[in-house]
Amino acid sequence: TKQKLWGGRFTGKTDPLMHEFNQSLRYDQRMHAADVQGSIAYSKALALQNILTKDEQVKIEEGLKKVEQEWATGQFAIQADDEDIHTANERRLGELIGPLAGKLHTGRSRNDQVATDMRLWLLQEVANIQSYLTGLVRVLVERADKEKDVLMPGYTHLQRGQPIRWSHLLLSHAFSFQSDLQRLKQLIPRISILPLGCGGLAGNPFVVDREFLKKELGFDSIAENSLWGVGDRDFIVEFLMWASMSMGHISRMAEDFVIYSTAEFGFITLSDAYSTGSSIMPQKKNPDSLELLRGKSGRIFGNMAGFVMTLKGLPSTYNKDLQEDKEPLFDTVDNVSACFQIAEGVVGTLEVHADKMKAALTMDMLATDLADYLVRKGTPFRQTHHISGQAVALAERTKRSLSELTLSEYKELSDKFEADVESVFDFEKSVERRDAIGGTSRRMVERQVSILREALRE
Ligand code: ARG
Repeated sequence: TKQKLWGGRFTGKTDPLMHEFNQSLRYDQRMHAADVQGSIAYSKALALQNILTKDEQVKIEEGLKKVEQEWATGQFAIQADDEDIHTANERRLGELIGPLAGKLHTGRSRNDQVATDMRLWLLQEVANIQSYLTGLVRVLVERADKEKDVLMPGYTHLQRGQPIRWSHLLLSHAFSFQSDLQRLKQLIPRISILPLGCGGLAGNPFVVDREFLKKELGFDSIAENSLWGVGDRDFIVEFLMWASMSMGHISRMAEDFVIYSTAEFGFITLSDAYSTGSSIMPQKKNPDSLELLRGKSGRIFGNMAGFVMTLKGLPSTYNKDLQEDKEPLFDTVDNVSACFQIAEGVVGTLEVHADKMKAALTMDMLATDLADYLVRKGTPFRQTHHISGQAVALAERTKRSLSELTLSEYKELSDKFEADVESVFDFEKSVERRDAIGGTSRRMVERQVSILREALRE
């Protein structure tokens, strides 16, 4: 009869529903490689302490590699009694190499083991996410560089504000994602802390060399307090918070593009590759990719909020509640990875309608420039703002545009107006005047492109 890993003190059987309730293998099996990697390093540390002979260590290592090979090739046969990835791997190791497998867990607990696996696994995923996010920033930057000539209305409150370059808008999103990349990088030192060697809670009585384990597994530093080492999940909270904010950026960009792709705006058309149709309305092309990007942000925030609530009220060290770290983390990693890749695809393939963007530029969007014109003639801005507002009102009342008011009408509003007021009514000039750092002039867009390209090279 099979014995449970922890069955010695038990006489009664586990309730079948409890067994299922307790089991995490169906989701934590994805950490199989990290679990094997951690175990191989630990077997070497045990050999250094003469708990294992050199020969025993080699047998254990070979067995573990076989276990990992079974996972990697889809041959690993899960047994009904396997509780989690740690017990499953140890059970299989025992089948492969016999009772010697029972020496591997000496001085180790699943508590330091699972925390080590999670950190190793997340470090790998963070590296993948960094490359997806880099791809997204790159496509925004390259597109901006190619489409610098395209002008469009810039909005605040979704009301037409001032003309901008389309590239300036793309780059605004690129800067959000670039700072997400920076922030993600800053999480790494706090993920890369080694818990292995903390034991169940009090530390390792066989005095394994944790410096050795750190180097062997490529961690940056060592958990210096074993109680903290087994119980700390701040690295997961931080990652979930990071993901929530980055998904907010994804959602904002998606929302911009949903609006711009409506017939009412008509600024962009999504490629067929990222659109779907309607089951009843044959004419429809829906921006499902963008809506899912926007929608996923809610779920990612939910993962974060849920796990923070799980941690609230826990006492120190390991508690089984901590097994609830896995599904929100895994779901978040899967979804942000997908979102960054889909967003890159959407941005890289959408079609821009420069003519529609241009047609949406209206003369009233130059009212600020009109006020600025008088400022340059010496009138204080608070007055020029008012005068320009009167010009807008007059144009509205007489159903004309600002450029259609006569010079004498302008002169009635201010004697500073002269024939050169005409120079105001030019969108390209308006954009080019925004030439301080951060502005939408061609020169400043080019500056942004080169700054971001430089950041991407790092
Ligand atoms: N499956 C467990 C988890 O994910 C592993 C640690 C179990 N430790 C324990 N003392 N029961 O947290």
